[in-house]
Amino acid sequence: MNKVNSPIAAFILISILLFFFSCKHEPDDLKPDDPNNPGDTTDLIACDPDTAYFQNEVLPILQSSCALSGCHDNITAEHDLNLLTYASIMNSGHVNAGNASESEIYEAITDPDPDDRMPPPPLLPLSSDQIATIRDWINQGARNNYCDAECDTANFTFASAIKPMIDQSCKGCHNSALANGGVRLDTYEFIAAVANDGRLLGTISHAGGYTPMPFNGNKLDDCKITQVRKWIEAGSQNN
Ligand code: HEC
Repeated sequence: MNKVNSPIAAFILISILLFFFSCKHEPDDLKPDDPNNPGDTTDLIACDPDTAYFQNEVLPILQSSCALSGCHDNITAEHDLNLLTYASIMNSGHVNAGNASESEIYEAITDPDPDDRMPPPPLLPLSSDQIATIRDWINQGARNNYCDAECDTANFTFASAIKPMIDQSCKGCHNSALANGGVRLDTYEFIAAVANDGRLLGTISHAGGYTPMPFNGNKLDDCKITQVRKWIEAGSQNN
């Protein structure tokens, strides 16, 4: 009797396993659902210049200036604070949605005493624009919001496309005070050097043999990677 049943039992078991694994899918945490239309990720949400966006603006600042290894990353989580995801930031209790001046994160980045201010030296302090973005985002309700920023692959000059991307996503970890991996990205000359030796495109496109950048962060969107590739192909000029 077992001779008849065991192949059938094996078939059923394999079918169950296949069914289970085929249902597994990766969560999409880069593009959160439109809050007005839960479940639908196909809507394009145009960026409103008066709104601060967590996914587009706040998270890149935190990733490049605060969630460094040894600080507020997912492994060290200094003060129990992991600044790499929306959920961990909100669950930490350091953001009081709607009230920046009573949020510990905002207090820490604006502390008048340089010894207490975050990020601590030798890291560079946040710029006034970055501080304003975080303040507006908290005052506007600290939502996990995202917008579809216009990115034009036909625009690939250093001043209008490359430098703003690097300032936002890379400079916090690659500057005169903190040159991770021996790499600085705070002047045209330093950026052109890693562009010309292949490491700029290799790291951001996650090519084999390069450490994926931004370190610990979300991959840049395809449009930004295309802009970098075209700028390099046209000679990595200071244009
Ligand atoms: C959170 C900090 C952080 C951010 C943000 C970051 N990097 Fe890095 N980067 C590092 C660290 C750490 C290393 C050294 C990694 C290693 O050697 O494995 C590194 C190394 C590199 C290297 C040398 C890699 C190699 O394979 O030789 C390049 C080039 C680089 N980063 C470019 C970038 C660019 C471009 C961005 C922005 C798109 C960026 N990084 C954002 C932390 C960061």
